[in-house]
Amino acid sequence: MYTKTTIGDYSFTNCLMNASGIHCGTIKELDELDQSLAGSLVTKTATLKSRVGNEEPRFDWDSFGSINSMGLPNLGIDYYLEYLVEKEKQNTDKPYFLSVTGLSETEIYEILKKVNESTFQGLTELNLSCPNVPGKPLTGYDFELVETILTEVFKFFKKPLGVKLPPYFDNSHFDQIAQILNQFPLTFITSINSVGNGLWINDETTAIKPQNGFGGIGGKYVKATALANVHALYKRLKSEIKIIGVGGVSTGRDAFEHILCGASMVQIGTSLPGVGPDAKFTQVTEELTAIMQEKNYRSIEEFRGKLKYID
Ligand code: DHB
Repeated sequence: MYTKTTIGDYSFTNCLMNASGIHCGTIKELDELDQSLAGSLVTKTATLKSRVGNEEPRFDWDSFGSINSMGLPNLGIDYYLEYLVEKEKQNTDKPYFLSVTGLSETEIYEILKKVNESTFQGLTELNLSCPNVPGKPLTGYDFELVETILTEVFKFFKKPLGVKLPPYFDNSHFDQIAQILNQFPLTFITSINSVGNGLWINDETTAIKPQNGFGGIGGKYVKATALANVHALYKRLKSEIKIIGVGGVSTGRDAFEHILCGASMVQIGTSLPGVGPDAKFTQVTEELTAIMQEKNYRSIEEFRGKLKYID
């Protein structure tokens, strides 16, 4: 396919995949992703033990995007790890992503030790940006803590690792996070997680229940922020750290823009539910391929990161 890509030593038949949290919590959903045109899949962010998450309603969407405060509902690391190890046996040349986090620093180390000791061969996305656990600060905004965590993790973790980052809004923050990430043998970063602490109101009442209606925003609302983060980090990170772009992708044009900003892979989140993996990945792949054909690009490497600045 025109849209094939690589991250580290891994090759993917298509640069499109789901975003963690979307259509990836159960074996049924993961199998639907696996059978679609997506080049890979990432599992729902797992914690050591399963969690039911926040009270419902905890997700809402409109034609421009979504708000969520799920609170990390997931079936626990063993469930997702076993699923992926099994898939790798059936599908030896398709690389998969496992998403993990911890509710404490110690839990992050414990869960990554488990992944390190398992037979999982794919890539691990360490989520440093879940905005919805009441009482827990967002790790990706605590630069010292990010540096401490990565220092500890790379003492024992020997598999390909990436981090999922929150959106940043200031040049000094792009500089600081890049300076930290560049010190480590990271294989990739995923940018951006939802824009935290938005508030939606229906008539006079909050749209979702947890945390008085505050939740992470995704979809078209966040595309400009996502593109800026992908490009700012592309410009600052060493070339070995590949970028997975996520935020506001519902068409081939959106994916094209993420790649132009520097993304080697592009995740689809908010626009996936409702349409489903089969139809969505076919649509976006066809649209992206058509744009590439029109512009005479035969691979994404021909335009990746080559955003032009107006004179
Ligand atoms: C949840 C939301 C996120 O944005 C994330 O990265 C992980 C978990 C959640 O609320 O479940």
